[in-house]
Amino acid sequence: MSEQDWKKTDAFRNTEIPTLLLIAVGAACVAAAWFFYTNRHTSEQGPRAFVMKPEYYDISPVRTVGKKLGTMGMACGDCHSDPTDQDPRTAPEIHNKVVLKHGSNNRCFNCHNNGKRDFFAANGGGQIPFSKVETLCAKCHGPTYRDWQRGTHGRRNGYWDKTAGEQKNLVCIACHDPHSPAFKPMKAAPAPLKHNTPGETH
Ligand code: HEC
Ligand code: HEC
Ligand code: HEC
Ligand code: HEC
Repeated sequence: MSEQDWKKTDAFRNTEIPTLLLIAVGAACVAAAWFFYTNRHTSEQGPRAFVMKPEYYDISPVRTVGKKLGTMGMACGDCHSDPTDQDPRTAPEIHNKVVLKHGSNNRCFNCHNNGKRDFFAANGGGQIPFSKVETLCAKCHGPTYRDWQRGTHGRRNGYWDKTAGEQKNLVCIACHDPHSPAFKPMKAAPAPLKHNTPGETH
């Protein structure tokens, strides 16, 4: 290396980098880091972060209840005024939408009141109104019924904090068909799709 070159290097070594410049570069780095951090933060956790089809967060129950019960637009009592001696295990032609698959609980009058057809059957021949269907199920499913009362079976809709709004227990037959009560398997929702930045397609 020539003497000239050595001088250049020394000259470089001896040059003082102004303190002000150091501070400015440092501050810029911190600002950039902060910007990227907060930006990432909002785009992953913001309200438009995940895309899910509405059917996957629909909270309506699998069955509709509360409709007026009957056949051909008539109440049960319009056709059934007297008790009958027969207690079939399969529904007669006129009620062919009823498919009874409730295991060993295989008699209509285990559940329907024979003499008063617009009621369910309580133990000892009493009547349970249609609107109190959980009392019917409780005759034979005591433990499940108590779990349901305490909110550990079935589902609660509405608010945890009752002062904020109504809390509602779904009734048994909002999930179970009383005639074929086994719960049908449901398809699991797929994992949420990734972020949705405006204008982006999937
Ligand atoms: C339009 C008339 C009609 C209405 C309304 C009707 N049923 Fe029936 N139901 C019949 C007929 C007809 C039979 C067959 C009777 C027979 O075979 O002797 C029958 C049979 C039955 C049976 C079998 C036992 C039996 O009596 O033979 C049950 C249980 C029953 N119905 C329950 C109901 C319930 C519960 C309702 C209301 C949710 C209802 N039915 C409404 C006409 C009706
Ligand atoms: C486990 C109890 C149970 C048994 C056993 C049972 N039912 Fe029912 N049945 C019900 C309940 C609960 C409803 C009300 C269903 C609803 O609101 O969706 C009902 C509704 C009905 C209805 C009205 C359906 C409608 O859509 O309007 C008819 C008809 C009926 N049952 C006939 C029968 C017949 C016939 C048998 C015997 C073959 C029978 N049920 C056995 C509990 C039972
Ligand atoms: C008269 C007694 C009786 C009544 C009333 C009754 N059940 Fe049942 N239930 C049974 C019996 C017995 C079984 C077990 C069936 C078997 O394995 O033989 C059963 C089974 C079930 C099952 C499990 C089905 C499966 O295959 O996984 C469900 C769910 C159920 N019942 C729901 C209900 C609901 C909801 C009601 C009210 C609408 C109700 N039950 C009313 C006697 C009853
Ligand atoms: C929000 C829906 C929902 C409601 C409401 C509901 N169940 Fe169930 N039930 C289920 C599901 C899901 C299962 C589990 C099915 C499985 O594992 O295959 C089940 C299982 C059952 C079984 C099978 C045995 C057991 O305990 O696991 C019985 C019996 C039963 N339910 C009765 C009832 C009764 C009685 C009521 C009302 C007091 C009720 N259910 C309300 C959804 C519901």
